Amino acid sequence: MSTIPLDLETDTVVLPPPALSPQVTLERSLKRRHSSRAFLPDALPLDTLSAVLWAGFGVNRPEGHGRTAPSAHNWQEVEVYAVLAEGAYRYDARGHRLLLVSAEDLRRHTGTQDFVATAPLELVYVADFSRMTNVPEEDRAFLAGADSGCIAQNVYLCCSGMGLATVVRAMVDRRRLAQLLGLTSTQRITLAQTVGFPGREASE
Ligand SMILES: Cc1cc2nc3c(=O)[nH]c(=O)nc-3n(C[C@H](O)[C@H](O)[C@H](O)COP(=O)(O)O)c2cc1C
Repeated sequence: MSTIPLDLETDTVVLPPPALSPQVTLERSLKRRHSSRAFLPDALPLDTLSAVLWAGFGVNRPEGHGRTAPSAHNWQEVEVYAVLAEGAYRYDARGHRLLLVSAEDLRRHTGTQDFVATAPLELVYVADFSRMTNVPEEDRAFLAGADSGCIAQNVYLCCSGMGLATVVRAMVDRRRLAQLLGLTSTQRITLAQTVGFPGREASE
């Protein structure tokens, strides 16, 4: 059953306020951080999705401009897409809500590894190069990758603290996924990241 309460009039999912458990300490998160490639297919509860997105690149200052991850020149050029069985959404950090991009299940297109098709949440990091002003063009990909990496590490630490499995991924067919997400010519997929409940790793 879907855990995503999509408002069909506005194509929006309002997320509950992000709440990380007090047990999620930085020490615990750092000690447990690792990459996993085995995920249960179970959907994430909405409050878990809310916490992961907020930790990744949510708004963390009351005036609404500061984010949980740094970005070069404070461009905040990376958009986080959440690809779920129910569809693909863009995370609107200021509104802490999801905006529907596609009602299709695009998870299998978010990477070249088998687990992406069945894990419950695929995050896709998309940099808008048009926001990256006053730098040489050749620096943009590097800086967008660095900014995306900061977000990815936030997600890693949130997941390890909450007992979730995750892996950040560069192995993505960017051209195909960009088409499916309806990206513009100035938008580039930098990385993707799978999140879910831990499954049994092959070596276990
Ligand atoms: C930029 C970047 C790209 C990565 N791409 C992939 C990937 O496409 N697929 C994958 O399974 N792991 C990927 N990883 C995860 C690394 O393989 C993993 O971090 C590394 O083996 C160290 O393991 P650990 O994260 O458990 O410490 C990537 C990691 C980074 C930082």
